[in-house]
Amino acid sequence: MAGPVSRFLEDDHRRLDRHLRESLRTPGAVDLEAYAPFRAGLLRHIALEEKVLLPVLRERLGGPPPMARQLRVEHGALASLLVPTPTRALIAEILSILEPHNAMEEGEGGLYALADTLPDGVAGEVVARMSAYPEVKVAKYYDGPRACRTAAEALALSAQQKEPAAR
Ligand SMILES: [Fe+2]
Ligand SMILES: [Fe+2]
Repeated sequence: MAGPVSRFLEDDHRRLDRHLRESLRTPGAVDLEAYAPFRAGLLRHIALEEKVLLPVLRERLGGPPPMARQLRVEHGALASLLVPTPTRALIAEILSILEPHNAMEEGEGGLYALADTLPDGVAGEVVARMSAYPEVKVAKYYDGPRACRTAAEALALSAQQKEPAAR
């Protein structure tokens, strides 16, 4: 049975999916009002995984979980695809990373299954910290020459980022 950490984060995946679907409701257009909570919510969701859950797992396992590196690269790529003003083409690029990413987190042997191995007290504390985690600051859209618009480009750039020294 799914534990509290996986339930919390899977519910967040579903909530973000709903906002994104809503933003695509009008054929040929993107509803920016519906997209805004998807964008802010996905950035916060990434922070919950990178700043709350992964450090706890790293500490308990005595090192990074096996999927941490790939998740970090994909999180970085998703964050950079959230920078420009969305178009339907851009959202297709986001989904090409996000759908398999979420499936991997939720799947057998994935991040959330690993989170469910945490002792009850620790899992409860992780959920409490995630619930209390503040909204993240969201910058204005940037559509200049350095904006990433394809998954391939965003993943390649993100893979070049160095691992933070303390992690
Ligand atoms: Fe993630
Ligand atoms: Fe996630």
